[in-house]
Amino acid sequence: MTSLPATPDFARRAQRVLDSNRRGDWTCPSADLYPHQWLWDSCFIAIGLARTDPQRAASEIRSLFRGQWANGMLPNMIFAPGIRDLGSRRIWQSNRHADAPRDVETSCITQPPVPAVASQRVAQALPGPERGAFLVEVFPKLVDYHRWLYRERDLHHRGLVTLIHPWECGLDTTPPWMRELRRMPAPWWLRLALRYRLTRFIRFFRTDTRFTPPQERPTAADGLRMLVLARRIKDHDFELRRLPRASSVLIEDLAFNAFLAVANQSLEAIAGELELAIEPELTVSFRKTEAALEELWDEESGQYYPRNAVTGELIKLPTVATFLPLMAEVPSAERADRLVKLLHDPDRYWTKFPVPSVPTDSRQFDDDRYWKGPTWVNTNWAVIEGLRAIGETDLVDELRRRTLDLVEREGFSEYFSALNGVGFGADDFSWTAALTLDLLEGPAR
Ligand code: GLC
Repeated sequence: MTSLPATPDFARRAQRVLDSNRRGDWTCPSADLYPHQWLWDSCFIAIGLARTDPQRAASEIRSLFRGQWANGMLPNMIFAPGIRDLGSRRIWQSNRHADAPRDVETSCITQPPVPAVASQRVAQALPGPERGAFLVEVFPKLVDYHRWLYRERDLHHRGLVTLIHPWECGLDTTPPWMRELRRMPAPWWLRLALRYRLTRFIRFFRTDTRFTPPQERPTAADGLRMLVLARRIKDHDFELRRLPRASSVLIEDLAFNAFLAVANQSLEAIAGELELAIEPELTVSFRKTEAALEELWDEESGQYYPRNAVTGELIKLPTVATFLPLMAEVPSAERADRLVKLLHDPDRYWTKFPVPSVPTDSRQFDDDRYWKGPTWVNTNWAVIEGLRAIGETDLVDELRRRTLDLVEREGFSEYFSALNGVGFGADDFSWTAALTLDLLEGPAR
């Protein structure tokens, strides 16, 4: 690996973002736009902090388990006390659920299962005695979470977890989810509002557009549909087994299951280190996930896609998630080769500021809109992890350098134009800063 020039000032600025977003034991994604705690954000934050302050990184992980439900579920959000915001808490009302924790309010859905990966990274950075204690503490909670994922979200034992809302997938408004969402039967008032373009009045009720230009955020129509779906799954207690197939959006999500495959491997490594066993029922599911990811491959286009969990059809709209199965070394050598060529294609993913969340030749590509085109540092980090896993060291170096150059030039934005590098969304975004710290250091020890 070629070493990058030492940039202590850059690292210091990244650390400053994490310090100003710190809220005691945990870190919010951004002070204005995202004042609460998010599941996979805290995992990326912990991965970065492991490089500079392993004890704080361990607290970041521990703080996530405040929100763990008695059934094992880790929610995608834990609400910060004392922050008034329209909607969020009211959507969920987690305190109505017997399984939800009593002392914090949370959402009732999950997010990509990165905690085991982050815990492994944090443990590697902790000094000897603390390391064992940390792993002993988090291991049973992580196992509970993975058990919940398979018990409640892989009802047919296919090896792939089904998501019930786009907010669970992390890449919220990527085209596959938004297409399926548009196909969902909508209530009359929403059909009317869409038809007569009344959705434009929604802007008076939105809080996100106070901080970010509307064209960089989800459209009002996508946003409303997501709210309708949240309301609908609430009527069924957010339980997959109770959701009516016809009016739900059920997807075997690609990015989520790719993270699950690599997280399962982390969990097995942690078990190995602690000399503890994971029950065979669960490890059988782990192996199924690796095999089942291969069912998401489309030979003709040479890409992976998510799958509609009801019809079994691949949702063939390309996104950056196609590269994520590389993290768990799932693709065969031939498939990995095709993916590397695809990544390097200047008309699709290898733009001036790669890697766009949606390839530039796609009809859905939108340069500045959220998950419909911009480059995000967490997905770049995941692509780099995947390239490293398959030994593409030159490309690892190249993408790592380009990602760091982009952030150094534009600041710690939430996302960036893949075409001209302009930063969009929230400023001083925590995972951009944290993963900068990780990328600056090179491969994990
Ligand atoms: C947005 C992103 C999601 C992230 C959250 C907080 O909703 O789509 O992935 O976790 O913001 O940063």
